[in-house]
Amino acid sequence: MNNNRKKLKHLAMSWKSCADCDLSIGRTNVVFYRGNPDAKIIVMGEAPGRDEDEQGEPFVGQAGKVLDSFLFSSGLNPKKDVFIMNVVGCRPPNNRQPKREETKACSSRTNYMIELVDPKVILLLGATAAKLADVLSIGPWRGKPVEVELKKTYRAVITYHPSFYLRQGKSKEVERKMLSDIRVARAIGRDK
Ligand code: URA
Repeated sequence: MNNNRKKLKHLAMSWKSCADCDLSIGRTNVVFYRGNPDAKIIVMGEAPGRDEDEQGEPFVGQAGKVLDSFLFSSGLNPKKDVFIMNVVGCRPPNNRQPKREETKACSSRTNYMIELVDPKVILLLGATAAKLADVLSIGPWRGKPVEVELKKTYRAVITYHPSFYLRQGKSKEVERKMLSDIRVARAIGRDK
């Protein structure tokens, strides 16, 4: 097992019993990541839904199917080329957006995972993830270079959340924009 995988396994064990915010009350599993801990691209979602809470892995439900298919269409293998995670590790009740204090309570885990993977680019899916780049409105910023400032500054690209695409009735226009944004992230991931 490589070093990053080992460290993530330790993190998973220590966070299993996390009670740093109220989301711990209703969860079945703390949801960590899937994909490659040595990938050049992190894909950042919002929070686990019901399927993810049950299975303990991010993006394993309907939104995950869309995400994987868009990644494949953009030339990225979800198992090898990306590290997929969420801003918060536990499912909010009724899939509401995580509250600011919940995001804050999870930020040491989120930041640690980003710093461990040390990607070339972070693909931010939707409004909650976009806040990591201090962006409050996706429309004007999607597909453009933004930054996530932690100990180090990470390049990032914002796109719509796959759930938005589903809510928009699988709009071709949203799909086209998401594929274009994912390709921007892929190109940055390949930069020397
Ligand atoms: N939506 C997210 O943001 N993350 C998941 O893991 C699933 C759905």
